[in-house]
Amino acid sequence: MDFDEIQAKDLGICMAYLQKFWGDYADSRASGNVGPSGFHYNDLEKLIKEPLPQAPQPLEHIFDELDTQVLPNTVKTAHPMFMAYVTPPSLDICALGDAISSILNQNVSFAKLSPAGTAVEGKVINWLCEIAGYSSKSGGVMVSGGSMANLYGLAIARRTIVGDPAIAHGNYADPRPQRIYCSEHIHRSVHKAAMLLGIGAENVCTISADQNHRVNVDEMERKILEEKECGVFLPTTIVGAAGTRVCGAFDDLKRLSELADRYDLWFHVDAAFGGALRLASPRPAELDYLGLADSITFDPHKLLFVPFDSGCLLVRERQHLLDTFAVEGEYLERSRPPGVDYADMGMQLGRSMKALKVWLALKYIGTKRYGEELSKLMDLARYFEELVRKDQDFELLAPVASTVVCFRWRGGEKRYSHLLNDTNQSIPARLRNSGVAFVNQIRINGMDGVRVCMTNFRTQKRHLEALMEAIKKLCSDSMTS
Ligand SMILES: Cc1ncc(COP(=O)(O)O)c(C=O)c1O
Repeated sequence: MDFDEIQAKDLGICMAYLQKFWGDYADSRASGNVGPSGFHYNDLEKLIKEPLPQAPQPLEHIFDELDTQVLPNTVKTAHPMFMAYVTPPSLDICALGDAISSILNQNVSFAKLSPAGTAVEGKVINWLCEIAGYSSKSGGVMVSGGSMANLYGLAIARRTIVGDPAIAHGNYADPRPQRIYCSEHIHRSVHKAAMLLGIGAENVCTISADQNHRVNVDEMERKILEEKECGVFLPTTIVGAAGTRVCGAFDDLKRLSELADRYDLWFHVDAAFGGALRLASPRPAELDYLGLADSITFDPHKLLFVPFDSGCLLVRERQHLLDTFAVEGEYLERSRPPGVDYADMGMQLGRSMKALKVWLALKYIGTKRYGEELSKLMDLARYFEELVRKDQDFELLAPVASTVVCFRWRGGEKRYSHLLNDTNQSIPARLRNSGVAFVNQIRINGMDGVRVCMTNFRTQKRHLEALMEAIKKLCSDSMTS
């Protein structure tokens, strides 16, 4: 039998399996445990140790393994008590996008090879640019996520500030170490990107932040000035944060943009987390200035509830993407009109129709309903902040700037102070192991605590109340054990 004869026989069975899985999952995702309780990675021994299949395995056997090994050992990110990391639940409609994109298997590298795929990505990029506050000269490209978008942003910054020689000679185009300025709270992918670009993670110059987790702009200016004047370094880029990695705070984007203009630097903003909050009402005030950035990291797989992986790099002037990434290759025949091929706007040649699921989500939900949902998440964060403030056994570890609450148990009575860090450290794992909730551990100013991210459209006030009760119980158990 050839592949198509095999597939034709099994297509109906695969569709029936998918339909059943999807239905069962939709029914169960908001109930029961958040994840497998008492889970250890090594429990998946059977899965991990399976040898490379030589002969075909019957579908019933494969589905049985899916049912017994894979699906029960997943974490329900769709569950209302899942409030960890920035990993929101996804919209069902996007699964259609992933399935259709896999079945059609378009290669969105050249428009002639994927006409509709290119047009859909172009449209999605236009819409995201509009959300971000960019004008018609802007552009962008879909990438795997925020980390990759930060890498692209820094590559474009280097090409623009160092000029064309950076394409041919990379960092040898200028003997001075390039310098990137950002907050101490910037996401670590900026350091990774500097490492990959050969700029070096140590040339990411982190500047301290104030008690609101906003970068100290005066200190940054002093540092830039000092490094410009001494002549040893080549300052190239300022990276601002619109939603910091730890507590979702917003840098002063207007002042950072002015600083970048004053010293002829590229201004990149990591809005992977906070960018979509431009749709909320009221929105964080700093986001009024997001459009001042030369490039923006914006992740649909965060607060637009599109499944992984779906990130995006936006640029104020689309030409910068082409100037950085278009190289003459073995494929000489470009599509018409010029400049529409996504192979010329990034690292990837073979590219999936990743934009399709974002296109479906934006059309299905619309900016108005997104805005309402995101405003609700910010309200939930304020509600949880109040629960923490009202309880004298707990304290906030950072101000609540958007949808993240970082706090810790402070031990009730003084005699339990020796239990503080141990207890706080243990809360996320104990909640996880019992299957009750999934939250993060966090350390701020040397204090261990808990990080709760309101990025889940299923979470309601009652879930937050239940979370607080569960945490209080764990803490009082710690005092009595
Ligand atoms: C502010 C920020 N930037 C970048 C990233 C990295 O994004 P990704 O995980 O999509 O690579 C994250 C991830 O949570 C983030 O919060």
